[in-house]
Amino acid sequence: MRTASILAVAAALVGSTTAQYQYVRQSTNTNSPVTSATSNDLRCNVGASSGTGVQTATVAAGSTVGFALDIGIIHPGPIAVYLGKAPSTAASWDGSGANWFKIYELGATITSSAITFPASDKSSFTFKLPSSIPAGQYLLRIEHIALHSTGQPQWYISCAQLNITGGGSANPAKVSIPGYVSANDPGLTLSIYWPIVTSYKVPGPAVFSG
Ligand SMILES: *[C@@H]1O[C@H](CO)[C@@H](O)[C@H](O)[C@H]1NC(C)=O
Repeated sequence: MRTASILAVAAALVGSTTAQYQYVRQSTNTNSPVTSATSNDLRCNVGASSGTGVQTATVAAGSTVGFALDIGIIHPGPIAVYLGKAPSTAASWDGSGANWFKIYELGATITSSAITFPASDKSSFTFKLPSSIPAGQYLLRIEHIALHSTGQPQWYISCAQLNITGGGSANPAKVSIPGYVSANDPGLTLSIYWPIVTSYKVPGPAVFSG
């Protein structure tokens, strides 16, 4: 039923790829998706609610970081990346609370005959951390939502632990995970096959770009 997919992940802090799971929490769900829009496992995947034993990477606000996947993206669907401000340390935070904001997304390419997803076939993603956010400890979360099975979206997720330095005093609007998307979101429920899709909005809040 499910072909193997992605996001078991090794974090890459660009410039050098770091060791697998050095800064990324390893789930117990490596190649299976989370399938419920209301599950707490949407935060960091199954078995990854704690970061015990995982290092926290110190990076500057405004710098470019990324995730390298141990298996590239197979299924069609978007990528989104969120930062969550840890109440204390990143390693001790389970991702609960309205602390998350989106910093990057890679959606769809739509033509008159088809919708395609540029994330497909990729095995690494890089993006810039906002330069205006407050210094402190964060979880950096990547999600791929696979849409090949109409009406049954599949989330592939990983979280890295960051200690962000520099920064500013911006206060992006925050969301909770779960809660950030509704199971009825058209970006989850659509058929990517038929009828021909004419628009696509990546689920979740707008990207904070400050
Ligand atoms: C976070 O970065 C600050 C500033 O460089 C440093 O003093 C602190 O030790 C770092 N914390 C962790 C957990 O790496």
